[in-house]
Amino acid sequence: MYLQRMYAGHRKNGRGSTSGVKGSNNQGGASMTGKSQLRDWTGFDPFDESVRDDPYPHYELLREQAPCVRLERYGVWLITRYADSAAVLQDWETFSSATGAGLEPAPTPEEGGVILSTDPPEHTRIRRAVARDFTPKAIRALEPRLRELVGQALDAALAEDQFDWVTLVAQPVPTTLMAELMGYPAQYREQYCRWASVVFNSMGCPADGSSDFGPVAEVAGQLYGFVSELAANREYVPGGWADRIVQAGERGELTESEVPSLLGGILVAAMDTTVNMLGNLAHSLAEHPNQWALLVKDPSLAASAVEESLRYESPVQPGFFRVTTTATEVAGVKLPQGARVMVGFGSANRDPRQFPEPDQFLIDRTPNDHLAMGRGTHFCLGAPVARLMGRVVFEELALRATELAVVGEPVRKNNRMLRGFDALPLRIAA
Ligand code: HEM
Repeated sequence: MYLQRMYAGHRKNGRGSTSGVKGSNNQGGASMTGKSQLRDWTGFDPFDESVRDDPYPHYELLREQAPCVRLERYGVWLITRYADSAAVLQDWETFSSATGAGLEPAPTPEEGGVILSTDPPEHTRIRRAVARDFTPKAIRALEPRLRELVGQALDAALAEDQFDWVTLVAQPVPTTLMAELMGYPAQYREQYCRWASVVFNSMGCPADGSSDFGPVAEVAGQLYGFVSELAANREYVPGGWADRIVQAGERGELTESEVPSLLGGILVAAMDTTVNMLGNLAHSLAEHPNQWALLVKDPSLAASAVEESLRYESPVQPGFFRVTTTATEVAGVKLPQGARVMVGFGSANRDPRQFPEPDQFLIDRTPNDHLAMGRGTHFCLGAPVARLMGRVVFEELALRATELAVVGEPVRKNNRMLRGFDALPLRIAA
């Protein structure tokens, strides 16, 4: 299977120790003495837990001092300014996705690479085969069912004195909706999310075993075994996305190996990203009472609050990768052909060159042309679905509650490619 092959080389690493990463305490953090002090950034590790805890001061210094820097530990270049990041994403001919969007190369398209791991024309063909399900009309049709799910989740939350936002709202709403859209059994929705988490984490892990690579091989095997079996037995709701993808395969628009790759890929791409966005926005609103009050006063701001959350706390962090197809230059730094570069979504979205007062969380910010869902050829296919989910959840929340507060210690997600929460204890009241 695709991912089994993809990660076969890493299996020997098993669940390695994180000590190699956690121990490297040369990241700055508390030891950063001032913005103006120049430092050598080549030893920087954006995946280090201490950095992930609060990456923004690091990003700020990087944008100033080393906007395109080679990270010796990984042999990749990190790009942190908005304009450079946007330019890279828009130029797929120079910055290719053919070896995947993760730290380590993924298989070639010939090996059945998914949508994220291809360039045009393969990418155009694959994307076309699924894009027709993401039309504005198809997305609008989801709203009544979504509102029903959100209503149930928020009623359950309001009935509690305090509750975990992730368990009661952020996870069940998108995972149930996505399972229904795919036409897959909803009872496995927590499993889908766990699979997604591990696969995302693996995208930020080196293959040398120096970090917690997690049980990726097993997980990938389970995930692709699951989607392949459902496809073979036609165990999905007719007319759902899974059905349509299988049909596209039968029409010859997708190859035999691309079908399970896409089925699993969409499941992974849709789940944890959205769960984290919903957690991040709830947290930011609770931490910024004036912005919460603004939303309660005018729930129609929910859509722009979602955009601001995507910018302010981008769920995909530190960023996705590309490989140069020719020698080129970014921010005055010469890159050889074959250089693996990371587009730092989280940093680009806090760049003051693009966003006035970038460290302020302002739910009515306009314009807000963030990169949290990519840009160009690989721009998030599910963006309209994720936006709809965010808008409806926070519209309904603002209509039902006036009080929103964090009432315990939130637990940050420990994931090298995703920023969000595993637990967010909240109190909401009408
Ligand atoms: C807040 C939630 C989400 C975030 C932050 C997010 C983020 C992203 C990003 C950054 C990319 C660009 C990858 C690249 O340039 O290499 C992407 C691509 C993609 N996303 Fe999302 N995503 C979200 C939700 C979803 C949902 C709900 C779905 C499915 C319904 C989805 C499906 C996809 C797919 C299929 C791609 C690949 C597109 C391509 O390669 O052409 N995403 N997403």
